[in-house]
Amino acid sequence: MTKFILAIDQGTTSSRAIVFDGDRKVVGVGQKEFSQIFPQDGWVEHDPEEIWESVVATIKTALGEAKVGAEQIAAIGITNQRETVVVWDRATGKPIYNAIVWQDRRTSATCAELKRAGHEALFTERTGLLLDPYFSGTKVKWLLDNVEGARARAEAGELAFGTIDTFLIWRLTGGKVHATDATNAARTLMFDISRNLWDEELLGILGVPKALLPAVKDCADDFGVTALFGAEIPILGVAGDQHAATIGQACFAPGMVKSTYGTGCFAVLNTGKDMVRSQNRLLTTIAYRLNGETIYALEGSIFIAGAAVQWIRDGLKLVKHASETGPLARTADPSQNVYMVPAFVGLGAPWWDAEARGAIFGITRNTGPAEIARAALEAVCYQTRDLLEAMRKDWTAEGDTVLRVDGGMVASDWTMQFLADVLDAPVDRPTILETTALGAAWLAGMKAGVWPDMDEFAAGWARDRRFEPAMDAEERKAKVAGWDDAVRRVLTQ
Ligand code: G3P
Repeated sequence: MTKFILAIDQGTTSSRAIVFDGDRKVVGVGQKEFSQIFPQDGWVEHDPEEIWESVVATIKTALGEAKVGAEQIAAIGITNQRETVVVWDRATGKPIYNAIVWQDRRTSATCAELKRAGHEALFTERTGLLLDPYFSGTKVKWLLDNVEGARARAEAGELAFGTIDTFLIWRLTGGKVHATDATNAARTLMFDISRNLWDEELLGILGVPKALLPAVKDCADDFGVTALFGAEIPILGVAGDQHAATIGQACFAPGMVKSTYGTGCFAVLNTGKDMVRSQNRLLTTIAYRLNGETIYALEGSIFIAGAAVQWIRDGLKLVKHASETGPLARTADPSQNVYMVPAFVGLGAPWWDAEARGAIFGITRNTGPAEIARAALEAVCYQTRDLLEAMRKDWTAEGDTVLRVDGGMVASDWTMQFLADVLDAPVDRPTILETTALGAAWLAGMKAGVWPDMDEFAAGWARDRRFEPAMDAEERKAKVAGWDDAVRRVLTQ
């Protein structure tokens, strides 16, 4: 009997479930958007119960569409929005507060205080990260400090912390398993990425009791069994979404780089067994951990990519569907130099300015929806260029960079051509655009013994189209200079 793999991709704006068949073809998909909660300027929350319900619903939809029963699923792979924090009661499984989302800036002052106290170098040395509200650690501290009774209950071992993968594993296994994988742990600001363990000293500085924390496993490992869908299914793969995309893009060799355009945009460069320390404000992180062996990466994180398109659609109401943005941008007046810096929740790499906010420059009386749409798409490309420039400085090994891209926005040929133009480097778009889910599915399928090993999986990666740079060098220089100037104007530090 054919064995299928179920991937759960719990993202920032929607939950997805995808059923793959034995040939790694997508045979069923479920997708559901859920509420974004903005209680204050710069705060972003999700309701964990709504996330859970959306995951269960999308699994049912995907199985139904695939006409596959739970008994035909060999394993589940989970991939998730990273850094987002949930704390729940171990006895009831009920969250004590909403999930605080990775984009949330409420701990910006705490990060500044920790920096002033001289702690950043230690956090960076141990975790590869920076003291920015993006990461989980200061969010956990906020929950313990602000939810009544939480700290005492955490110390008494009554509460559990998890990133979204951990919360889903807990719920799927009926509270039997409290675990995460090394890639998700690596984003918490509490995990030593070279020794692969929770760091007691950092926990002490943040005031987070160890009793809250999950066990940390390999990406392909035993994460328990779920019996919620009619038959027992083992959970055998877990990775944060950007790590799963790195795997799905088969970026297994040092020097290979991918960039994923979801809510945000995240470029990940595989650096192999070497932990490369960035001199250019990139992050050092765990690409994946398999059979106890850790492979590292340099990462550039941009907070707003698809979210800018979402704002064009829902905020400005310039389009009805996100897919109309590319065609609209194509009609923009080429003589106008409109720049949008989408620093809606501050700026990530390489700027790390939590207090910066968005701006649009160069508006004239002729500026309309098309120019604004173009500026939003171009901003994502310019930001990718900033990341790759930083990577080129940190990673000096020989070889031409070809960027493998995935995520919703890469369906736009116009955007991908502009990306290749401003990068002055080729951009490869794969045939399978469900890259993140595919990566999680591969972890689970490989562990279950029903999918191929790494080499065979990598050999199966196929290109849909390569975009070659075609922009004149002078034009590129002028455009990039305009972008640099726009960014400088929104920085607060
Ligand atoms: O670090 C945040 C990232 O994991 C979120 O990814 O795809 O939801 O934008 P995405």
